[in-house]
Amino acid sequence: MSGRIPQSFIDDLLARVDIVEVIDGRVPLKKAGRDYTACCPFHSEKTPSFSVSQTKQFYHCFGCGAHGSAIGFLMDFEHLEFVEAIEELARGLGLEVPREDGGAARPADDSRRLFTLLEQADHYFRRQLREHPQAHKAVTYLKQRGLSGEIAARFGIGYAPPGWENLEAELGREHQTRQDLLLLGLTLTRDDGSPYDRFRDRVMFPIRDRRGRVIGFGGRVLGDDKPKYLNSPESPVFHKGQELYGLFEARKAERKLERLLVVEGYMDVAALAQFGIGYAVATLGTSTTREHLDRLFRTVPEVVFCFDGDRAGREAAWRALENTLPVLQDGRQVRFLFLPEGEDPDSQVRKEGREAFERRVREATPLSEYLFEQLTGQVDMASLDGRARLVDLARPLLRQLREGAFRQLLIQRLGELAGMPGSSLAALLRGDTPPPAAAPERPVPRPRASSGGPSLVRHAICLLLHHPALGQAVQVPEGLADDHSPGMDLLRELLEITRERPHLTTGALLEHWRDREQGRHLHKLAATRLQVPEAGMAQELEGALKRLTQQHRERELERLLGEAHLRTLTADEKVMLEQLLSKT
Ligand code: UTP
Ligand code: MN
Repeated sequence: MSGRIPQSFIDDLLARVDIVEVIDGRVPLKKAGRDYTACCPFHSEKTPSFSVSQTKQFYHCFGCGAHGSAIGFLMDFEHLEFVEAIEELARGLGLEVPREDGGAARPADDSRRLFTLLEQADHYFRRQLREHPQAHKAVTYLKQRGLSGEIAARFGIGYAPPGWENLEAELGREHQTRQDLLLLGLTLTRDDGSPYDRFRDRVMFPIRDRRGRVIGFGGRVLGDDKPKYLNSPESPVFHKGQELYGLFEARKAERKLERLLVVEGYMDVAALAQFGIGYAVATLGTSTTREHLDRLFRTVPEVVFCFDGDRAGREAAWRALENTLPVLQDGRQVRFLFLPEGEDPDSQVRKEGREAFERRVREATPLSEYLFEQLTGQVDMASLDGRARLVDLARPLLRQLREGAFRQLLIQRLGELAGMPGSSLAALLRGDTPPPAAAPERPVPRPRASSGGPSLVRHAICLLLHHPALGQAVQVPEGLADDHSPGMDLLRELLEITRERPHLTTGALLEHWRDREQGRHLHKLAATRLQVPEAGMAQELEGALKRLTQQHRERELERLLGEAHLRTLTADEKVMLEQLLSKT
């Protein structure tokens, strides 16, 4: 992997993009007073509670609490990863994304070249489907499989014509591209070292990554030859264990994806789309990995695995279950759909149509039910031994679940089945529990205000967040440096950043806390309304800092005086006490 993206680049990037433009291009905004509003794209609503502030470069939904900077918006709306969102914004401005480790530039250059070449190959295959003298064979095949021109276009289906050196002749004119074609597995070498095309006389399915870039291909024979499917091999840009065929297309076709259906084959995905079920994806001839699941759950809260009703299907389902347990957490749902023997999603949806198929999806077996169904099937539930064995079988599985309500429910259910109280089961499972998903909460920067009113630290933090330029406008009292009471470290960090970079917007400032626990609290504060008139803010902040320093002094003084009652103070402490007394 390449190095980190420097924070200074992120600062600059967010200073140059306008969140209003970024969002408006995707969710049309209306001006309302100083801010902009729309119906929230992250939950369904009829009256707009989604608000975008141009000055803060920050959005917030008062309905569902979604919030963030332009980066956060792209991540959530386009389902991009952090780095992808930055690249997307940078591309709009024609900027290169730098990496902290200078040596990392090479691989990026290489993959850019490979992506370009894959795109050219993709164009080539699609053109052949329209223009090649033998294209009618492929067109007839697709028609006979029931795919419309529209669906073929949505999935970018193409045709690799018969012959050994078509693609090689088209693209492999330079030494570098010949090397790259080999690296991508689009060509192979003969014994004499000369290259030839991997895909010949096949219908071509481009495989795209989540951003829509072609990263590989699957090719199906037109008849009954073997192998039925050929896939691109792993390459620097194609990792089968991570990619899902159809995910890009699903996200494009369905604005609000609520669930994804995981099927086995390219044709299944295309056939389901043909019938209006646009949320199917396929693993690429591998079983479902943890990486797949992470990716799926980053996109939707519910995943339905669809398997053929045969033994292979059942085995694949169990593997999927085992891989799913560690990534499950509250709010994530997994269900299993088993098709009748001998059917796959393609044949089933053609047989019974969309509605009946979607009923199957809705009624698919929940993971917990499937799990216990499988386990109880393996033991004699009528005997005590059998029920003990059930606990034994379930233990290593349930242990992989993260702490949470779902885990509790499963333990309870196991208890019912085994005739054992849930509490003793919980004890049985304890001791080897994996750590909870998120790091335990660090002390919340919600300091107790000694005077009872709204906390001073909180207020100071709020002022700085809403108006980062204040950081440079105020004088920071000296005594503030050694105050480590709750919230003070956070306040100091904010002061330091804003003093150095007074032009940061609220949105950009918050990016400094991405992936840090405190970021959540800062986001909440950023979304509150400030009652202070703009003109008085610098004074207000300075006043708050002074009072904080004063309070700290008083606390120190009290502490030293208390100590002095119990023991003789050290020389240093005596100096300190004198200083404090003189200042108070
Ligand atoms: P299937 O054999 O179930 O294919 O393989 P299918 O989708 O029903 O194909 P059609 O309907 O006959 O066209 C499912 C998946 O397994 C991989 C492919 O990814 C395919 O989509 N596979 C299958 C291969 O990689 N190679 C093969 O030879 C067969
Ligand atoms: Mn099939």
